[in-house]
Amino acid sequence: MGIYTSLVRPVLFTLPPERAQRLAEVALRQGPFWRALRPAFQLNDERLHADIGGIHLPNPIGLAAGYDKDCRLVDSLSCLGFGYIVAGTVVLHPREGNPRPRLARNPREGSLVNSLGFPSHGLETACRSLKQRGNSRVPLVLSISGLDLEEFRQCYQALQPLAAGIELNISSPNTEGIRMFQEPQRLEELLAALSPLKERPLFLKLPPYFDEAQRGRVMEMVDLCLHYSVEGVTAVNTWPVEDTRLATGHGGLSGRPLFPHMLRIVQDVRRHAGEGLVINACGGIASGEGALNALRAGANTVQLLTGLIYQGPGLMRGINRYLLRYMEREGIPSLKEISREPLEGLEQP
Ligand SMILES: Cc1cc2nc3c(=O)[nH]c(=O)nc-3n(C[C@H](O)[C@H](O)[C@H](O)COP(=O)(O)O)c2cc1C
Repeated sequence: MGIYTSLVRPVLFTLPPERAQRLAEVALRQGPFWRALRPAFQLNDERLHADIGGIHLPNPIGLAAGYDKDCRLVDSLSCLGFGYIVAGTVVLHPREGNPRPRLARNPREGSLVNSLGFPSHGLETACRSLKQRGNSRVPLVLSISGLDLEEFRQCYQALQPLAAGIELNISSPNTEGIRMFQEPQRLEELLAALSPLKERPLFLKLPPYFDEAQRGRVMEMVDLCLHYSVEGVTAVNTWPVEDTRLATGHGGLSGRPLFPHMLRIVQDVRRHAGEGLVINACGGIASGEGALNALRAGANTVQLLTGLIYQGPGLMRGINRYLLRYMEREGIPSLKEISREPLEGLEQP
């Protein structure tokens, strides 16, 4: 057991989840401390290199959107062994988010339920933080969202020059307005509006699906991505659930229970889209085996958030070491050559 899981997590978990998160943020603002620790978290090996739509990654593990909503912690987060960081989701205007409580833990199943609803200091603050950031070697993808086309457009134009790529969030279950962009016609309008402005690789964050009707709608979104030359998708956002601990009574479930659904969706999207689309697998990844199985299901990279909160900053190095050991054992020279596998047997202990 590491220092985080034996000492730090037990203390953090005595606090209400949002307060624990704020404490973690205070710690992450100590830039020089994390820069000094960088060598302990990082694993440099060419075999781990990945490419997402022309963005070169030192390894395939990304931090998922939502941990650093105002882009204030990018420098420190870049020292933790990630291959890329997704910061945001940034929205145009400052927002309070939903009423509290809006974050709950389920420690036994390694999950969280959140109904944050995009608390944000808005685009201007994010731009200011990003302009002050250091010269990190870890690529940055910025997640943006909006309640209408114009909000998306303004965030897109302002943030593209400050990032290696942009991820469109149309799938957060906690913000009524943005879900309308899951309607194929509205999504088409959005992609058509952003297309002429595009200067960097673009990714679309997909919602999870649990039945045929929802699956059909997500595959329509994938088709639109292919049509508008969107480089990739991130599969998936949180799972809408009821939860009476939250003031809103419902939220998005993240963490381990999402994992088998995410694997099925990644495999489905890969079959549907072929090899031309980047897939970033996201949902419940919390171990080397989980990450490997997401890659074998068809993903190019993995993203994680809840795993970081439960396992701490040693997780990324642990996953990268696991991937390297697997590649050595199987005689696989690079990540790209990890073969696709049928879903049976792809699990996470
Ligand atoms: C506290 C919290 C906040 C989140 N905020 C965002 C967000 O702002 N934008 C977004 O696209 N996804 C957001 N997500 C979803 C994550 O990016 C990710 O899709 C989801 O949690 C599944 O991955 P995980 O199981 O590794 O956490 C959030 C998740 C959590 C737990």
